[in-house]
Amino acid sequence: MPDKVRIGVVGGGFGAAFQWHLHPNCIVEAVAEMRPERRQRLLELYGCEKAYASLDELLTDDRIDAVAVFSGVPDHARHSIAVMDAGKHCICAVPVAITLDDCAAVIAAKERNSVRYMMAETSYYRWETILVRELYEAGEFGDVLYSEVEYYHPVYDGHAERKALWWDPEGNRTWRYGFAPFLYPTHSTGFLVGVTRERLTKIAALGWGPSDDPGVGVGRNVYDNPFSVGASLMQTDRGHLCRCNVMWGIHAHGERAQWFGQYAAAYMPGCAGQPFVVQRNGKPDITELPDYLQRLPESMRLQSGHGGSHPFLTNEFVNALIEDREPAVNVYEAVAMTAPGIVAHASALQGGPQLDVPSFDRHSGT
Ligand SMILES: NC(=O)c1ccc[n+]([C@@H]2O[C@H](COP(=O)([O-])OP(=O)(O)OC[C@H]3O[C@@H](n4cnc5c(N)ncnc54)[C@H](O)[C@@H]3O)[C@@H](O)[C@H]2O)c1
Repeated sequence: MPDKVRIGVVGGGFGAAFQWHLHPNCIVEAVAEMRPERRQRLLELYGCEKAYASLDELLTDDRIDAVAVFSGVPDHARHSIAVMDAGKHCICAVPVAITLDDCAAVIAAKERNSVRYMMAETSYYRWETILVRELYEAGEFGDVLYSEVEYYHPVYDGHAERKALWWDPEGNRTWRYGFAPFLYPTHSTGFLVGVTRERLTKIAALGWGPSDDPGVGVGRNVYDNPFSVGASLMQTDRGHLCRCNVMWGIHAHGERAQWFGQYAAAYMPGCAGQPFVVQRNGKPDITELPDYLQRLPESMRLQSGHGGSHPFLTNEFVNALIEDREPAVNVYEAVAMTAPGIVAHASALQGGPQLDVPSFDRHSGT
């Protein structure tokens, strides 16, 4: 790689929330968006002059080294594979895919093209997660025997914004219409996989959906998804337990975790009033987070959404390319966060049997 990454940014919704133009080793070479007003927004935000109306057109641009894919979830696998088959590195919004076959196909595309792939999992770089990961790596938790990981997004009780996203400005249904909670698992699973790098291997899940919502149920959305609420119990390849939930429409909000280790426990702040605390055996509690902004290039030291994670995701992807190494949330970690949700959805559809998650790692168990 040269000392500057030339990136193309695709998708002007969440794709406009990153700091590519502020990284000293990154240039936004072009943007792509189907919707003209969003295309213009990307051009202005990232200070670049070249815009395409589609990812396919952007992929013909030889000056682009890497592509940031921020299209809707059902397109992630197809778009990521197209990027990598064009010989370009790829960072993609969560999750990797919504089927196990597509998870395998994304891994195959990464391997056959010798390019880098990263998933932009915001839970990985929430500041609480950074701290807990580093304490875990320093041995302060021992094993994390049990964790509770969850993503709650209200829909009905005055937080109508998610449901509003079910339709585009022209009134057409978007990919979010009736989308299954467990097919969007990575904000939850990322809290465990992103800390201990364990694999979630056995899963039993249940789901619930409102019978009076015309968008939820078999035949009512393109996914035939009957659920808006999903709860599961998972077991890891080290035998540890994880209660993993993804729910829309309940009266609760947030992406958070509680980690219970042998010698320490950590609680993220929550909508019920739980304050942030790490409790340790024989050591003082930690109630404040370090200032991680100092770890970023000076030009990128800004607060962002999703627990301050956005510039960290931006920085990690660019640095990995410059340093010619795998990014932190590489394709195997990304699939380890994604596949358990696909299996949880399958379990819930069958009424809750315990199902195995296949291993997608290059060496099983690593
Ligand atoms: N915390 C998080 O990690 C987080 C938060 C929000 C969204 N997301 C994810 O980010 C992604 C984007 O979310 P969003 O809310 O912006 O969705 P969105 O549907 O509003 O935006 C996707 C955009 O991609 C564009 N697009 C799709 N296919 C294209 C193509 N082939 N060429 C050019 N443009 C194309 C669409 O026109 C659309 O504007 C989703 O996968 C979502 O799940 C993640």
